[in-house]
Amino acid sequence: AYVITEPCIDVQDQACVEVCPVDCIHFDEGEDRMLYINPDECIDCGACEPACPVTAIFAEDDVPADRAVYKEINVLWYSDK
Ligand code: SF4
Ligand code: F3S
Repeated sequence: AYVITEPCIDVQDQACVEVCPVDCIHFDEGEDRMLYINPDECIDCGACEPACPVTAIFAEDDVPADRAVYKEINVLWYSDK
């Protein structure tokens, strides 16, 4: 799955939501400071990665080491739903 990382915080451009063919990028508006990709629904199409103006999105295997925690955060956010 693809993963959204730190640069999304307080930006929330949502260009990624527009291009995602399976509609698997979500957040609670007014509550969350960033968006999250559902790892069970993402089909790894890669469309969201170049769409993000702040380069927040990476393929799971390419997430920078200092942002690895966002892989867990994504999973946790959906496990809470
Ligand atoms: Fe959606 Fe494709 Fe991005 Fe996965 S890689 S979140 S399916 S746009
Ligand atoms: Fe965030 Fe970039 Fe999407 S800023 S909402 S990951 S387009």
